Amino acid sequence: MEPVLYPLRKIENAHGSLTAIEGLRDIPFEIKRVYYIYAVAEGARRGFHAHHELRQVLICVHGSCKVLLDDGVTKAVVVLEDPGQGLYIGRMVWREMFDFSPDAVLLVLASDYYDEEDYIRSYDEFLSECGKQGDLID
Ligand code: TYD
Repeated sequence: MEPVLYPLRKIENAHGSLTAIEGLRDIPFEIKRVYYIYAVAEGARRGFHAHHELRQVLICVHGSCKVLLDDGVTKAVVVLEDPGQGLYIGRMVWREMFDFSPDAVLLVLASDYYDEEDYIRSYDEFLSECGKQGDLID
């Protein structure tokens, strides 16, 4: 799968840098939730799920981490280390986040409120849901 990375506008001056993100302008959805992941234990891997409907943009605002994306057919690994870049993750994409630097702060913009019902936390279930989608397209 081909990862979608959005360049985010950086406003720089002698006092420092600022990046602003506006829902439906800089990213393709209205932002209903923001959360951030930090102080990740060395070697820890997070994620291990997909979402039926939720869409997200991930920005590593400090430090670095890697994200594995898997659409059920192909996989890609993206290195996030630039606060001026946002990784879009659409519906039905399995993700795993790993190789967090000790100082990493991963900011996540989400298209909806937290809803455990929207999660697919079993990889086998994810693959079977992808298969069903394929059947519909056929
Ligand atoms: P989870 O989504 O599994 O984190 P990760 O994908 O980074 O491994 O969420 C971890 C815990 O936090 C889980 O108990 C659910 C809770 N949580 C919320 O309460 N609200 C949220 O917006 C998120 C993302 C998680």
